[in-house]
Amino acid sequence: MTGDLQHVHSGKVRDLYALPDGRLLMVASDRISAFDFVLESEIPDKGEILTRMSLWWFDQLADLVPNHVVSTDVPEQFRGRAVVCERLAMLPVECVARGYLTGSGLLDYEQTGEVCGVALPPGLVDGSRLPEPIFTPATKAELGDHDQNVSYEAVVRTVGEETAAALRQLTLAIYDRAEEMASERGIILADTKFEFGLRTDDVMVLADEVLTPDSSRFWPASEWQPGRAQPSYDKQIVRNWLLSPESGWDRASGEPPPPLPPAVVERTRSRYVEAYELLTGESF
Ligand SMILES: Nc1ncnc2c1ncn2[C@@H]1O[C@H](COP(=O)(O)OP(=O)(O)OP(=O)(O)O)[C@@H](O)[C@H]1O
Ligand SMILES: [Mg+2]
Repeated sequence: MTGDLQHVHSGKVRDLYALPDGRLLMVASDRISAFDFVLESEIPDKGEILTRMSLWWFDQLADLVPNHVVSTDVPEQFRGRAVVCERLAMLPVECVARGYLTGSGLLDYEQTGEVCGVALPPGLVDGSRLPEPIFTPATKAELGDHDQNVSYEAVVRTVGEETAAALRQLTLAIYDRAEEMASERGIILADTKFEFGLRTDDVMVLADEVLTPDSSRFWPASEWQPGRAQPSYDKQIVRNWLLSPESGWDRASGEPPPPLPPAVVERTRSRYVEAYELLTGESF
């Protein structure tokens, strides 16, 4: 029953509803995306694992920044995988912090020696630790497209000098805290993305999900070895299988990927549980 819920938005993984009191209900499904496709197969419990992880992080960060969470008292059918949150005026910037070089940052670096206008030293490779964490903002893409990395100046043009400075400062402060906490637990937080919104009184609030494997790259520190793709606590198992001959899928074909075999689903679920338990110290 979603009778008094008004559907507002569905992303690849989450569904957003407006509540009668003006707040939002953010529901994390068990859907999983890879290579910008939402897969046919779902990962059991993924929505709940990521919701709990995000809530745990919001608590850890509460002294640095207010967050949008109002309560976890949600309609029965969403129990465990939804939160009631304040409806904010979202700032149109994907606030990415990177402490390590990989993904789109690595691609930009290889072409220009910079990421989002930040010059980096020569000789860095996939997985290199950066001299210091950097703010590498992006603009949100339309469904099915990649986010676009942009310069800090572009953010200034979009939201103004003062707001841009606050976004950069907060993003890096939160990254520093989270990176340190993760490293104490044997996990490298390579990079992560935050979204912020404004209350009607212009207070800046941390929104969306935070520091989950869907918004971050977590690597087992013991296996970190720059110069290759790093093992990670996310959809890597899924991506590897899709790219393997076993899947029969040709990424270049533009066709949607095939369903995942049960063993791949189960291994992926275990990986999410492992990340949750390692980070929070709680059992799922
Ligand atoms: N407190 C909030 N108030 C208003 N909007 C919010 C709040 N928190 C998050 N959002 C927005 O809710 C949406 C969540 O959608 P979701 O992340 O599922 O999909 P998406 O960003 O459109 O696509 P993708 O699947 O690529 O992430 C985002 O547009 C996000 O900016
Ligand atoms: Mg999103």
